[in-house]
Parts: sequence; structure tokens; C-alpha cells
Amino acid sequence: MRIAVIGTGYVGLVTGACLARIGHDVTCVDVDAKRIQAVNEGRPPFHEPGLPELLKETVQSGRLRATDNLAEAVTAAEATFIAVGTPSSNGEIDLSYIEQAAAQIGAALRGKNAYHTVVVKSTVVPGTTATLVLATLEKSSGLKAGEFGLCMNPEFLREGCAVKDFMEPDRIVIGQSDKRAGEVLASVYTAFDCPKIFTSLNNAEMIKYASNSLLATLISFSNEIAALCEATPDTDVDQVLDGVHLDRRFSPVVKGELVSPAMLTYLRAGCGFGGSCFPKDVTALRAFAEKRGVTPRILDAVLKTNENRPAQVVALAEQAMGSLQGKSIAVLGIAFKPDTDDLRESPGLAIIDVLKQRGAQVCAYDPLIESIKDLTISKTVDEAVAGADGVIIASALPEFRKLDWAALAATMKSPILVDGRNILRGVQLPSSIHYLPIGRHNQGHNESS
Ligand code: UDX
Ligand code: UDX
Repeated sequence: MRIAVIGTGYVGLVTGACLARIGHDVTCVDVDAKRIQAVNEGRPPFHEPGLPELLKETVQSGRLRATDNLAEAVTAAEATFIAVGTPSSNGEIDLSYIEQAAAQIGAALRGKNAYHTVVVKSTVVPGTTATLVLATLEKSSGLKAGEFGLCMNPEFLREGCAVKDFMEPDRIVIGQSDKRAGEVLASVYTAFDCPKIFTSLNNAEMIKYASNSLLATLISFSNEIAALCEATPDTDVDQVLDGVHLDRRFSPVVKGELVSPAMLTYLRAGCGFGGSCFPKDVTALRAFAEKRGVTPRILDAVLKTNENRPAQVVALAEQAMGSLQGKSIAVLGIAFKPDTDDLRESPGLAIIDVLKQRGAQVCAYDPLIESIKDLTISKTVDEAVAGADGVIIASALPEFRKLDWAALAATMKSPILVDGRNILRGVQLPSSIHYLPIGRHNQGHNESS
């Protein structure tokens, strides 16, 4: 099928490239000229594993291209996906890019005779597609609902494994304005043999918010238990949550084997969730609930727990070091999670803000980040850690487990190590290091098993 994808960010570009990979003819549209050029040269404008190979293949084969000419792309296509950004604005989502995209798509459809299906891929609060997007499309196209198709098709792509998530979907949610529209969207996905849920536009939107809010809730729940363990002698959040995980309702035995569902990775303590989705989506759902007269107690607590977590992690360093005024702290891992260079709502940056408020001098290291305004970024862990009064790990990068911590400790002014993700669990650390995991009543442990 000929498909246009409006918005060439993480979601739009991965979607476009994967749709081209499964045989569709795709035109990605963006307002950003640099992005368009990068895509047309087969280079992803951001880090995402698997995407360089995929872009190269699909651009070279002629099945994928990028342009700033929305009207031309839409006119030539049978279906158009909207994947523009939905930024947060005063706790709500800003739908102006969505509205603008819908208006431009509608204008391109005016006078076009063939049936066209518009698919909202961006995350939007329930009701947006059936009201704002539909009304905008009708007004700008001069067509009535039914004369064109409208679908809501949420994405479930984790940055760092977005290509895999697209190519091996758990489920595909097809919110449809009517049966015909849903059938067109289903035909886009015939290559995937996974459950397909045909549902209302509002349900599709709600499924996305409920999914992300549940995952964020598990993280905040785990972090609240971690904070409790930090305040309680002889407790260790990892052991506590291991004990919780082994309930067979979480970890079933299948064909004699204990299965550990991926969901359990969200039932682990850390220094908080970040990224372009969880904080924004839970915040938007909270505002949506309030507007509907529902008090969002759980969503509110999930966000507040998350906002407090960076300061709780810094407090562990303060317990060991006293005042942080004038101290030099190295923060390791500052993207919102491993295998991405995305800094949006990153817990690492929130930790750095708290450290700066406490008067500390901060330098940071992340394998995928070269520079950030007003922050010293080191090229290597050695450079970041040398001379530091303390280190805080803010992202669970596996490479931190392989570091020569004895050699690093020898270069530090005081070898205090706060493990904000407990990534060094099970690693034998030298006795010279004062290791402070999260979720443990810390007296100074030298190994993290
Ligand atoms: C976006 C949404 O923010 C998210 O809620 C949704 O689930 C998926 O789409 P993401 O892909 O991470 O997420 O957004 P971003 O990386 O900001 O990319 C948006 C792209 O749209 C940018 O390349 C931007 O230039 C482009 N854009 C934005 C347009 O082409 N036209 C516009 O009017 C606005
Ligand atoms: C998320 C959803 O997982 C995906 O389905 C959705 O559609 C887009 O939003 P993403 O934001 O890319 O994907 O990342 P994810 O891997 O889910 O992690 C989000 C945040 O939670 C990160 O900051 C991560 O560090 C944190 N996290 C994750 C934890 O703190 N603990 C965990 O156990 C897992």
C-alpha cells in the first residue's frame, strides 16, 4: 500500500521504515529539513538500534523517502499516519501539531476521489480522534465521515528496541471510525500474526494511556518500596521484589520451567522513570481525569513518587558524604535509559539538578551523549570519575558492570558509589569502595549481591 507518515520523530520514522520493510511504499513527511535530508541519505537523525540498517535498505530499494511536501505525499497515498509530536503544556497535551497535521491532510484530500484512511499514531487523550481530528478533517476536506476512513492505532515502541517492537508486536490495536476504515488498517498489518484488537477510537486511545500508566505505576510502586527499605534496617528492595516476583501469578511455571515475564522488569527499583512517554502520558491522563470529574489519586501518586525519587537517590550520597556543597560528583548514564541518546525527562538530568541545587559540581558521562549546554560531559568514565568525591549511577548501562572499579576508586578523592539502578548487583567490588545501593538501609556494603 502507498502510505504517508506525517512526523519523522522516533515513532514516525521507525513506523515508516518498518512499514517499508514489510513491503509498503512509504513517504515520510516532516517540517525539519535536516531530518528529511538525513532520512533520504539513509541516516537516522537519532540513535536507535537496527534503524541505520533498515533505513539504508528501504531507502536504497526505493520503498522509503522523506519530503516536506505533505500535500503531495498524502495525495499519492492510500493511507496517512499522523505521528507528529504531542508535547506537554501545563500538564495537558498540546494538540496543536495534531490539529495542524489533520487540517493539512484534509486540505490535500479535498477533491481527491479515492477513499483515503487517516490513522492517528501519536498518543492523544481519549476523544481526540473522534472529535478534534474528525472535525478538522471534515472541515478541511469538505468530506463527511465515512467518505474517508479514520483510525487510532497507538504505538507500543520502546526506545532502544523500537524496531524489534514494531516487527514483533505483542498486539495491534485498531481503533476504527467504521468497519471499512479498520479493514484498510488491518490490511497494512497482514504481515503480522499477532492478536489484533478492533475497537472504538476512544478505547484505542485509552488502551495506550492505561498501558503506559500501569507500567509507570509498577515503577513508582517499586520505588516507594525502595524508599521504605532505605528507611528500614535489614531490608533490601531487590530481595523483597525477588520475593514478590516469585509468586506464580507473576512468574508461572510453563512446561516445568519458571517463566519470568518481561513485565517484571518494571517491578524493580531505580531512580525513576523518564523518556518522552511515561511522564507525559501519566500527566496527561491525570489532567484528563480531572476534567472528567474523576480524582486521579493513583496517577497523582505515581507522578509525585517519581518526582521525589532523584532527591532520594541524592540523599543516599549525602548520608555518606555530608553536605554536597563544593563536592565534585560524577553522574554516569544520563540518557533516560540505556541504548538511547534521548534526554527527555531523564532521571539522570533530574539528579544533576538536585546535585547542583545542593552546591555540588557535576560532571557526567554517557556513551551516547557528547554535549549538553551548561554541563561538563566527559568522554570516558575514567575522565568523569577522576578526582570525584562521589559517583552516582543513573542509568542501568551493562558496561558499568565491567568497569575496573578498583582502578577507578584509586583515582577518586573519596570512593563513594551510589548505584541508582542497582546495576552492580552481584558484581564483586573492591573493599576500597563505599558502595551504596538503592533500597537498602545503607551502612556501607562492599559487594552488591
Ligand atoms: C510523538 C508523540 O510525541 C508521541 O506522543 C507519540 O506517541 C508518537 O509521536 P516522537 O516520535 O518521540 O513521539 O516525537 P518527536 O521525536 O518529537 O517527533 C515528532 C516529529 O514530528 C519531529 O520530527 C517534528 O519535526 C515533526 N513535526 C512536528 C512535523 O513534521 N510537523 C508538525 O507540525 C510538528
Ligand atoms: C514506553 C513503553 O514501554 C512503550 O510501550 C510505549 O509505547 C512508549 O513508552 P520507553 O519510554 O521507550 O517506552 O521506555 P521503557 O523501556 O518502557 O522505560 C521508560 C522509563 O522507565 C525509563 O526511564 C526506564 O529507565 C524506566 N524504567 C523502566 C525503570 O525505572 N524501571 C524499570 O524496571 C523499567
